[in-house]
Amino acid sequence: FFSTFQTTSSSENAPFVHLPREKWWGAFDLYQWEGFWYTLPRLQATTAMQNHFKSLDDDVILASSIKTGTTWIKALIPSIMADRILTDEQDPLLTNHPNVLIASLEFKIYRENTTPNLSEMQSPRLFRTHVPYRALPESIKNSKCRIVYMSRSPKDTFVSMWHFVNTLRSDEERPFPIEEAFESFCDGVSAFGPFFDHVLEYWKVSLEKPNKILFLTYEEMKHDPKGQVKRLAEFLGRPFEKEEEVDKVVWRCSLERLKSLDVNKEGMDPWDGVPHRAYFRRGTVGDWKKHLTDEMASRLDKITRMKVEGSGLSF
Ligand code: A3P
Repeated sequence: FFSTFQTTSSSENAPFVHLPREKWWGAFDLYQWEGFWYTLPRLQATTAMQNHFKSLDDDVILASSIKTGTTWIKALIPSIMADRILTDEQDPLLTNHPNVLIASLEFKIYRENTTPNLSEMQSPRLFRTHVPYRALPESIKNSKCRIVYMSRSPKDTFVSMWHFVNTLRSDEERPFPIEEAFESFCDGVSAFGPFFDHVLEYWKVSLEKPNKILFLTYEEMKHDPKGQVKRLAEFLGRPFEKEEEVDKVVWRCSLERLKSLDVNKEGMDPWDGVPHRAYFRRGTVGDWKKHLTDEMASRLDKITRMKVEGSGLSF
């Protein structure tokens, strides 16, 4: 994971090497570009996609900052868009990690090829991205395609991120000191961060254009999964006709079920070397209480209040 994050040739790196750089959590070199932090391969893929991606009106784009519960929505969107007559045995989640069902623009498509041919993809095309709103290709912003944004409380997002990165470190290297990780998160340094700027940009556009961006939160999803899944299905133009259809999709995409499937217990993402199981952990609201001191929690709460003040967003 660490090495594949860094593999790019020096000529491809040339336009970016002058950018401000930070070593993130002892492993990644992050480069600050137009206000946000990226690894080099992600930055190259982001600029390639800005130059070449042409959105279609029926595309669906799942956007999020990392570790906000995106995997849940990666499972839900294809399940909602799929034919409702599929039996449990035909459910694609049985044999595919959710990452496979909705391809990442910057981790897969524009990483493998800077000018991919997407004309063969079946409509409606489903994509996902972690890039901030400002860095999206203009054609995503200006077409009628829909964006689903997933957000989560900063404290649980940070703790989930810390666990995730620890699973990618060797036994000798882990855990990365949480105090150090916390400092850089508070300073806004994280992959695709600053976290607050990421969330706030999408939040503001979702208020201006509610038919363009659906803003979901992990906490609301946990509190009322059925209600939120119906909301998502309506936004995607695929409302449910029967309650049992909603129940089925909620169950198929539940953490308990996905975690128990062989396809998610074994194997790795071929494009970034992350073990499939690393995407499924506890999935609770308030897990931060086990890891953050009172002082850390109140510091992050204070930063949160300052950042979201006046925006109408609350965590
Ligand atoms: P925790 O680390 O708090 O357990 P992402 O999907 O954006 O990488 O975020 C990962 C977080 O989402 C992890 O949170 C993971 O357990 C949780 N998650 C993954 N799949 C889920 C699902 N189907 N339902 C609820 N939470 C899920």
